[in-house]
Amino acid sequence: MCGIIGYIGEKNANEITLKGLKKLEYRGYDSFGFANLTSKINIYKDIGKVSQIKNIDLPKSNISIAHTRWATHGGVKKENSHPHQSNNKEIALTHNGIIENYQEIKKELIKNDYFFKSETDSEIIPVYIEYLIKKEKIVFFEALKKTLKKIKGNYAITIIYKNEKKIFFAKKGSPLIIGIGKNENFISSDMNAFLECTNKIICLDDNEYGFIEENSFSIYDLNTNKKKNKKINLIKNDTLKNKEIIKENKKIKNIKTNNNNNNNNNNNEKNNEKNNEKNNEKKIKEIIEKIKNKIDFKQNYNNHYMLKEIFEQANTIDYAINQNIKKITKIINKIKKTNDIFLIGCGTSYNCCLYASYLFREILNKQTTPIIASEFENYLPLITNKSLIIAVSQSGETIDVLEAIKKSKEKKATIFSIVNTNFSTLTRISDENIMMNSGVEICVLSTKSYTSQIAIFLLLIYSLKYNYNNAIKKIKKISNKIPLILENNFEKLKEIADLIKEKNDLFLIGRNSLYPIALEGALKIKEVSYIHAEGFAGGELKHGTIALIENKTPVIILSSKKNRELTLSNAIEIKSRGGYIIGFDYINNEIFDNFIEIPNIDEDNSILMIIPLQILSYFLAINRGCDPDKPRNLAKSVTVI
Ligand code: M6R
Repeated sequence: MCGIIGYIGEKNANEITLKGLKKLEYRGYDSFGFANLTSKINIYKDIGKVSQIKNIDLPKSNISIAHTRWATHGGVKKENSHPHQSNNKEIALTHNGIIENYQEIKKELIKNDYFFKSETDSEIIPVYIEYLIKKEKIVFFEALKKTLKKIKGNYAITIIYKNEKKIFFAKKGSPLIIGIGKNENFISSDMNAFLECTNKIICLDDNEYGFIEENSFSIYDLNTNKKKNKKINLIKNDTLKNKEIIKENKKIKNIKTNNNNNNNNNNNEKNNEKNNEKNNEKKIKEIIEKIKNKIDFKQNYNNHYMLKEIFEQANTIDYAINQNIKKITKIINKIKKTNDIFLIGCGTSYNCCLYASYLFREILNKQTTPIIASEFENYLPLITNKSLIIAVSQSGETIDVLEAIKKSKEKKATIFSIVNTNFSTLTRISDENIMMNSGVEICVLSTKSYTSQIAIFLLLIYSLKYNYNNAIKKIKKISNKIPLILENNFEKLKEIADLIKEKNDLFLIGRNSLYPIALEGALKIKEVSYIHAEGFAGGELKHGTIALIENKTPVIILSSKKNRELTLSNAIEIKSRGGYIIGFDYINNEIFDNFIEIPNIDEDNSILMIIPLQILSYFLAINRGCDPDKPRNLAKSVTVI
């Protein structure tokens, strides 16, 4: 979604904001713009890609705000891109979010002879500030405060004003973070935009506004108008954090996570684990090398984050389960005592919630309700102070998830979150967070974050069923198989993608916990290759979808021991109508036209099923000329409703 970066300091602000916007590209956008301050405000904006720009055509300055826009109000046009200016050109603004009452304010301003150049909701803000300064003869900051009280909706805004060497800001509903440097300060909707320059951050909360200067910052509460003291947080890198957790866990001996005594903690086992990890990393490197030699890797595949992130999963799953034992124990004790559990997410994160709900029932005999965050309102009457909500989100900024959590908090429910992004809004409003530790996920598609989410649910569920150490062992058994999956199936998946790339429709069938995997596989395929892909539960075939099976319609069959017979009977029905069957299982079957071998393990093998589906989607995207990292119309983080 839209991204903001602002810089004030002793360096070249144009260069820094350009670099910052490039870091925000992964979030998805269609146009961009810059405003800087010299003796006046200078603006440069365009539609298209920031990555193609080397320099921006603006005079040198030490103060700049910049923006990537993802069109909501008004089409993809230069005039609609940010920054927007006041009529007298003394004020420039960037805005993320939506101003709900903009039409009413726009009418009022037009009545007073003000004009608008764009179709956006955002433009009313600088124009209204100008209007107030003139009408009420007040200073800029006072007019800003009054404007903030007037507008309704969600916003993260940065503003520069011709007469002050400051970047003004305000936040409600959309993320905004200040970066504190030496003789320089930053402000952004995503700290990745400035983390290279400083790791000292201040997370702004809703209804805060203020300004940054070269050597200071001031934050005010919009309700009380009082100045606030805010904590400066230090961002540690993931490697350091992982090491700290391992050290902390070593201190905790003989942890009992359930009534079983945990006697498995002997030295041999620890050494084995360490060796496995090292072997895994080595193996991944070897496989990538092998694959590079086999296919034309350099020409087509080298530069995509999607592929990099798919490969990383052999390690990121292990990082995801490297959690503080005390914290996990506390969380599972709460789960044990609660019968009122709701799992909330959107898109891939919802698919993970649905998957986890199967495991909660099957392994723990515990009813949990998975909810698509945007549908949460319908479940609100069921939420009480005894409810436990587990929110799942890679970004921690998905607006529907945040709204659901805010409403749950009003009902005094307990909130646990599974999140990847440190200091994101979700982490700050939850009672307890389990961080995914996946590292930044740049590709718009969730891949490594999805398997990390699953791994964390497995950690909780297996810890409850068995004990913490056994849970770790079981999950590592799964993650150790990932290099094998990559190695054995990579070329085959490329061939399958070649075969089916021209198809318009594709179906995926799964039963039980493989049903959510079918949904996730379909989501991956459609969002990156634009082929219509639909996942459904095997039992539903005869209730409608079978009508769409034609000669050579590709259907991916996900089956395993538990559901093989019934799923194969679906495959036979499809085959007899001409369907082209691609089987995913550890046993091949004559009914399959093509086969992807999934290693046979006792544990739930869903993580192992999704990885080849991710690779297949990647190849489909490449074969159809789609950009796998930045699919059309999609944004990495959906921060507006
Ligand atoms: O950041 P979140 O996990 O909350 O994001 C939720 C969805 O927007 C996200 O999973 C989306 O569906 C991805 N494009 C899936 O690849």
